[in-house]
Amino acid sequence: MSKQHVKMTVNGKPVEALVEPRTLLIHFLREDLSLTGPHIGCDTTHCGACTVDLDGKSVKSCTMFAVQADGAEITTIEGIAHPDGTLHAIQEAFRQYHGLQCGFCTPGMITRAYRLLQDNPNPTEAEIRHGISGNLCRCTGYQNIVRAIQAAAQELSAAKEAAE
Ligand code: FES
Ligand code: FES
Repeated sequence: MSKQHVKMTVNGKPVEALVEPRTLLIHFLREDLSLTGPHIGCDTTHCGACTVDLDGKSVKSCTMFAVQADGAEITTIEGIAHPDGTLHAIQEAFRQYHGLQCGFCTPGMITRAYRLLQDNPNPTEAEIRHGISGNLCRCTGYQNIVRAIQAAAQELSAAKEAAE
């Protein structure tokens, strides 16, 4: 099958490649760009382990083709930390509040939480639970994930107020 040329920005860097039209975005990210943070946890679009941020929306990268992301701006878990390597407040809160056990769901969960807090900086617990309902975790029972996102929301709001 003839390959198609795609151009996108991934974690702030311009990327150009030739891809087969059938290549899923998750495979392109993991295999062509070596961004193995987004995981593949199912083949039914259920688990959310593959979640990335695409043009300001959380998407399951197993559910779209790389060619559909042509021209897009994508952030994966690898692009969430600050450029100097310090953890983003959400990553720090997951660490502090034990929001992970095996860690398999964590890249998708944090990337989803990142978008959730961009769209709604002060979510209620119910809004957090609804917001992460497309991301499954088989280990934690979600309680500490919710706590971590609440703590990150407070931290980010305090930092924003201090900067104003
Ligand atoms: Fe499970 Fe994408 S790998 S939703
Ligand atoms: Fe194991 Fe969420 S920490 S699946």
